[in-house]
Amino acid sequence: MKTYLITGGAGFIGANYIHYLMKNKQNIQIINLDNLEYSGNPENLKEVEELSHYRFLKGDICDRELVCQLFHEAEIDYVVHFAAMTHVDRSIESARPFIHSNIEGTLTLLEAALEAWETDGQFPGSKKFLYVSTDEVYGDLRAEGYFTEDTPIAPRNPYSASKASAEMLVRAFGETHGLPYHITRCSNNYGPYQFPEKLIPLLIHNCLRHAELPIYGDGQNIRDWLYVEDHCSAIEAVLKRGKPGAVYNIGGHNEKTTLEIAEIIVDYIHDHHDPAVTRDLIRYVADRKGHDRRYAIDPRKTREELFWKPSVTFETGIIKTIQWYLENTEWLSHVVSGEYLEYYERHYGSKTKPDAIYNVPYKVDTLRRRVPCL
Ligand code: DAU
Repeated sequence: MKTYLITGGAGFIGANYIHYLMKNKQNIQIINLDNLEYSGNPENLKEVEELSHYRFLKGDICDRELVCQLFHEAEIDYVVHFAAMTHVDRSIESARPFIHSNIEGTLTLLEAALEAWETDGQFPGSKKFLYVSTDEVYGDLRAEGYFTEDTPIAPRNPYSASKASAEMLVRAFGETHGLPYHITRCSNNYGPYQFPEKLIPLLIHNCLRHAELPIYGDGQNIRDWLYVEDHCSAIEAVLKRGKPGAVYNIGGHNEKTTLEIAEIIVDYIHDHHDPAVTRDLIRYVADRKGHDRRYAIDPRKTREELFWKPSVTFETGIIKTIQWYLENTEWLSHVVSGEYLEYYERHYGSKTKPDAIYNVPYKVDTLRRRVPCL
């Protein structure tokens, strides 16, 4: 019997990971530690909350007393550390909460794991600390090439800087104290339960309410999209077969521009759900500051060492995702309440006013005249 401590298990990827474990693993216990801040949502886990091998603990990873007590009371084998502030735009607006949660929170967990697991400089073979990081730590990739695990770390926004810093702490605890760890760096995830501040759920949500679809800059920024369940299976592969102290890239070679994503979503909703949703909803708005142009993962090491590969193509995954949101409008309406509306107005209110850079309805010809690189 293995006991997993999952931090941030009520968030998007954490909740999907818990569902994945419940479906695919037997003889495990799960403790979910989550502070239920704005994007952590107990509704994401209502199917599992009554299960005897699942325990939810509302608490903050920065709360040393609570975290140490938890490690002493429960025989934790695996820490899978998702809990983090994750939205780049929010980190640009205010960096400090990212430093607190993502760096200090990670340090608290590392100290507690060290204290509970180490005896005379030795760690039992069953213990593992897996830090869920991001491809954003590599910074910006221009048109050519891919991020490999050897690409130098060069984060370019406060969020990715905080993730890179936390990685360094994990590594330092491994090198200094021998704490058994893995680090995973995954590309952009999408799928059920994603909070609609991120591109894909935001676009779907806005289509459903016939609101404008804000596209930053020229819409040509590229992200490498991975269906969230494939991220979950990769984490399992790392826990099972990963080398101690190794970093693994996770990605599926699904590069798409922001504009392509918007068009795919609009067209699907137009054809299958609501003909009133058209590409006319797309609006070019002022760009994100320091916006990384392209991310693209080379997942070869993970494939070859761990025998992992994604099982969901982008074409299938995006339809599953749109359908999930269409079927879960109640979930959506619950999460887009007070705090979300305030954030939305703060962040997009001024962007979509007439002085925004590309505040023109989407028309390729108009756009070509304004954006020379198209
Ligand atoms: O690469 C992994 C990372 O992916 C994760 O570590 C982050 O936690 C996650 O938020 C995500 O970061 P991005 O900044 O790439 O995701 P986001 O959904 O915010 O934006 C995706 C792209 O879409 C990016 O080029 C910015 C653009 N965008 C985003 C929003 C919210 C728009 O054009 N309009 C928008 O309104």
